[in-house]
Amino acid sequence: MTVHFIGAGPGAPDLLTLRGRDLIAASPVCLYAGSLIPEAVLRHCPPGARIINTAPMELDAIIAEIAAAHALGQDVARLHSGDLSLWSAMGEQMRRLRALDIPVTVTPGVPAFAAAAAALETELTLPALAQSVVLTRTPGRASTMPPAESLTHFAVTGATLAIHLSIHALDRVVADLTPAYGADCPVAVVWRASWPDQRIVRATLATIAAAVAGSMERTALILVGRVLAAEDFAESSLYAHGYDRRFRPQDATSRFAETAE
Ligand SMILES: C[S@@+](CC[C@H](N)C(=O)[O-])C[C@H]1O[C@@H](n2cnc3c(N)ncnc32)[C@H](O)[C@@H]1O
Repeated sequence: MTVHFIGAGPGAPDLLTLRGRDLIAASPVCLYAGSLIPEAVLRHCPPGARIINTAPMELDAIIAEIAAAHALGQDVARLHSGDLSLWSAMGEQMRRLRALDIPVTVTPGVPAFAAAAAALETELTLPALAQSVVLTRTPGRASTMPPAESLTHFAVTGATLAIHLSIHALDRVVADLTPAYGADCPVAVVWRASWPDQRIVRATLATIAAAVAGSMERTALILVGRVLAAEDFAESSLYAHGYDRRFRPQDATSRFAETAE
């Protein structure tokens, strides 16, 4: 018996990996975080599967469900939205399962920030403008932030920011970032990226609060950075004419000449 942690993606049912789909189909028990996982993903469960929405449950009860499946020798598909490496609560479940000697696997999913970037048709790292993306959040009722991980600290880098779990604190986000990024810095808010009712609001730090005007709750990602409206950026060396590289040696004297295939 194994518990398969599966990243269920940002919402669109066809943004689930094939591996995730096949594991769901092979598991007689499915526990899913109901607030963000669409019904369509659950259609991959086998007939007669025990399907449990864990949104209203406590950790002890979730582990008890898994332990019961373990006692029956039944595999469990454990679904969380997006990818499991970000705010999934996988860590605390995994720790309990290891203590119980219950085996686990982890299957990655498409994270919300990637779905939001896709919706914007934007590369978040552009030459010379931003070469880093900070995946972060602001403090929540149930989650404090380590003191050094404040937006004002990250703002010093000028990196592209993907701010999760924070649409309710948009005014605070704007106040923290404006001194470093400038009031004209582009911002995009993507609500329910990849869902049929996805919405995008593009503005600047100066105008985003009025543009959103409280119209979006919960499942929204705030992206901030110059890359969001950049047209005038340098091209990378990757495809540049005359750039000597392993897969495109320039001539017989290239250090890559013999290794290229
Ligand atoms: C608990 S976190 C889960 C993140 C998830 N594990 C991931 O990899 O993206 C939930 C937050 O992710 C963001 N989020 C999740 N799905 C989203 C979507 N489809 N569109 C926009 N933001 C989303 C929102 O900021 C939301 O508050």
